[in-house]
Order: sequence, then C-alpha cells, then structure tokens
Amino acid sequence: MNKRITIAIDGPAGAGKSTIGKIIAQKINADYIDTGAMYRALTLKLIENNIDLNDTYSLLKELNNTSIDFRNGHIYLDKKIVDKQIRENIVSQNVSDVAKIKEVREELVKIQQNIASQKSVVMDGRDIGTVVLPNADFKFFVIASIHERAKRRFEDLVKAGEKNLTIEEVEDQISRRDKIDSTREKSPLTKSDDAYEIDTTNKSINESVDEILKIIEGR
Ligand code: CDP
Ligand code: CDP
Repeated sequence: MNKRITIAIDGPAGAGKSTIGKIIAQKINADYIDTGAMYRALTLKLIENNIDLNDTYSLLKELNNTSIDFRNGHIYLDKKIVDKQIRENIVSQNVSDVAKIKEVREELVKIQQNIASQKSVVMDGRDIGTVVLPNADFKFFVIASIHERAKRRFEDLVKAGEKNLTIEEVEDQISRRDKIDSTREKSPLTKSDDAYEIDTTNKSINESVDEILKIIEGR
C-alpha cells in the first residue's frame, strides 16, 4: 500500500489555491479538501437564520446545532449540498468575521484534522500548514498581486452572472478580507517557515501546477 500523503496549501483570496489544489489532488490520487468552504457554509447558515454575527453567544449556539462536512468534492451543510450558495457575495463579505472567532476555528479544525487522518489529502485554506496539518508532507504558500487576484475573482463573478460589482469593489472586498484573515488573534493567515512560496501572478494554471509537482516529485 502507498504511504498516505498530506499537502497543505495556504494563501490569500484569489491566489489560485483551489484551482491548483484540485489538479494536484487528481494527479497524486488524493482527496481535495476546501476548508474555506466550511467557514463559508457556517456563515451561510448564520445569515439564513438571521443570527447577528456580533452576538457570539447565539452564533456559538447555532454552531452546536450545525453539521458541516466536505466529501467527494461537495460541501454539506446539515446534510444538504450547498456548493453554489456558499459562493454568494453576501457570504464572501461576512465569512472572515465568522472565521476569526476562536471557538468556530477550534470546531472546524477538529473536523479537518479528522478528515486528513483517514486518507491522502490536498487541503487548502489559511492555517493548514501552521495549525491544521503542522506535520504535512509538503506545504505551499500561494500568492499573487492584489490586482491580479481581484481581476481573477472579478472574472469568476461575472462568469457566475454577477452584474452589480466593479473590479475596484472586488479588490476592496478582497483586501478587507485579507486584512481580517492576516491580523486575527487566532491562527492568522501567515506563511509557515517550512512552506514553499509559489507566486502565480504571471503564471498560467499549468505553470503553477508544474512548479508544485516538480517540488513534490523531486523530494
Ligand atoms: O476562495 P477564497 O479565497 O475566496 O476564500 P475561501 O478559501 O473560500 O475562504 C473564505 C474565508 O474563510 C477566508 O477569507 C477566511 O476568512 C476563512 N478561512 C479561514 O479562516 N481558514 C481557513 N483554513 C480557510 C478559510
Ligand atoms: O482558491 P483561491 O481563492 O486562492 O483561488 P482560485 O479560486 O483557485 O483562483 C481564482 C481564479 O484564478 C480562478 O478562476 C483560476 O482559474 C484563476 N487562476 C489563474 O488565472 N491563474 C493561476 N495561475 C491560478 C488561478
């Protein structure tokens, strides 16, 4: 039997983590786990149930009554697939305020570590190399310039039918999210010392994937 392999991919919004992560997972026969989708799913539930995100007591009560899982490439919220709903802009705008809460992180990190203990995974997020899988076989920190990331995310939103946002607004939203993610007290977005930095600003998806595969295959 082949050895189980764990790969951590972290970085800011729009850097290419999930696109690259899915391809790498396929190539090495591992499961791709999108941890951001888990924070988004909880945020979706809180919004749908009109929970005030500043009311930590009610928020944590709701968390206790929520099941979140990521299986076969789908995100499950209370046993229902919510792949599409979690990408709504209202969720993107609020998710970082939910993800900065210590108890929320502790709960979701437990689920993520449990998934990774059972199979080979490529896991993408903000704290995978630092907190969730500190002993991952490989750690990558994927970055790109803020303009490039905003352009990519804007194009994704337009393709998904969004008509009301400008590229400048998308850049502002991403910058705000990056700031909350990087400055929160509990497990902020930061490059682990032993992570390889991959700058995708001027690279195609294939070039970014090849750079990572070369590192994995070279060791
Ligand atoms: O895909 P995108 O880069 O827009 O974000 P995402 O990976 O879906 O993550 C959404 C948000 O969840 C991030 O902005 C963080 O606030 C939070 N997150 C986190 O705190 N820790 C993780 N491991 C993954 C996501
Ligand atoms: O997961 P993350 O938020 O880091 O980014 P993503 O959702 O994987 O990538 C955002 C967009 O950038 C997607 O449409 C990718 O196809 C695109 N992308 C790109 O154009 N060039 C790359 N080297 C990587 C991603």
